[in-house]
Amino acid sequence: VTPLEAYEAALASSLSGLASQGLLRRLRLPAGIDLASNDYLGLAGDPRLASRVREALGDEPTGAGGSRLLGGHREIFERLEQRLASFSGSPSALLFGSGYLANVGLLQAVLGKGDLVLSDELNHASLIDGIRLSGARKVVYPHLDLRAAAAALAAPRTGRTVIVTESVFSMEGDRAPLRDLVALAAEQDALLIVDEAHATGLYGQRRSGLVEELGVRDGVLATIHTGGKALGAAGAWVAGSTALKDHLVNRARTFVFTTAPLPILAAALEASLDILGMEGWRAEEVHRKAALLRAALQRRGLASSGDTPIVPLLVGTPEAALALEKGLSEAGFDARAVRPPTVPPGTCRIRVSVRLPVPDHELERFASEASRILGAEAA
Ligand SMILES: Cc1ncc(COP(=O)(O)O)c(C=O)c1O
Repeated sequence: VTPLEAYEAALASSLSGLASQGLLRRLRLPAGIDLASNDYLGLAGDPRLASRVREALGDEPTGAGGSRLLGGHREIFERLEQRLASFSGSPSALLFGSGYLANVGLLQAVLGKGDLVLSDELNHASLIDGIRLSGARKVVYPHLDLRAAAAALAAPRTGRTVIVTESVFSMEGDRAPLRDLVALAAEQDALLIVDEAHATGLYGQRRSGLVEELGVRDGVLATIHTGGKALGAAGAWVAGSTALKDHLVNRARTFVFTTAPLPILAAALEASLDILGMEGWRAEEVHRKAALLRAALQRRGLASSGDTPIVPLLVGTPEAALALEKGLSEAGFDARAVRPPTVPPGTCRIRVSVRLPVPDHELERFASEASRILGAEAA
């Protein structure tokens, strides 16, 4: 047996192990009413984004050609970043290729060996990976448990202390107690980083997120905003001080050592920001629809955590989640099962993203189908 054959055999056995536990993932094209993507505001397919991108393609090269530091910088990125900074309510902003890259680069650049980081147990993988790359000591606190976070800060510390949280949690659909976190950070000489991936486009007057909505920008070192979810495009940015931006340009490995995004991304994001500015009703409608779905589920005895457009339906085992996914798919809904390692074992779920294009009556029908399928299973 050659090493290659041995490795292929090991892969096959590991994949069939996953399949036997109901944990194998396969790529599947979208089909049915989209309750799975994060295109909350329905902007991904908005013709205004497409036409701005087409226009920009006339002026810009298709590819940036290099990293921002090596020939890939463009005026359109500079203009966008000024816009992103004022949108986010901060002095500066730096664009990254994705939220994953922004989180990894930011945490790796801010933290180092000898520093302490407090991380909510349900933080996104990109935050976890950035912490790993930094080499900082990590304390994971139970979800939203600030008492536990405070207790972890009681021991003597050397180096910097950073608290990291999502504002809207991507799989729970609940919110971090940002005001309390800001107060805790101030009391304990710690810095606070807030991932607004699922709040951007949905909260605050400008729709930049919960930090804006709660007016706590001054208590936060940096926020991360994604362009691929509610904004309907791609990319992400870190908003913070100009010194932080300059530091990231020098030290964030996922910024320095990667080719710049397509310049037309900037045009798409500018178009999204224009729409957010003109059409505040979009986010309001999504919140109304989310409340409608939650109420419809509750009437049928189906509880879901949180109060945001992310509505999780916890069912427990991978098999139960897959069965619900299949039943919903047969009823015409594209809502996906989420299983470990994305969520902790025993908390498999269907994660619903309430989206503007989905009519109210389909949300009602979703609740009744979910309840029918779950009831039929229990029987
Ligand atoms: C909380 C959170 N942060 C960061 C990301 C990464 O963003 P992106 O998809 O742009 O890489 C995601 C989603 O993927 C997320 O849910």
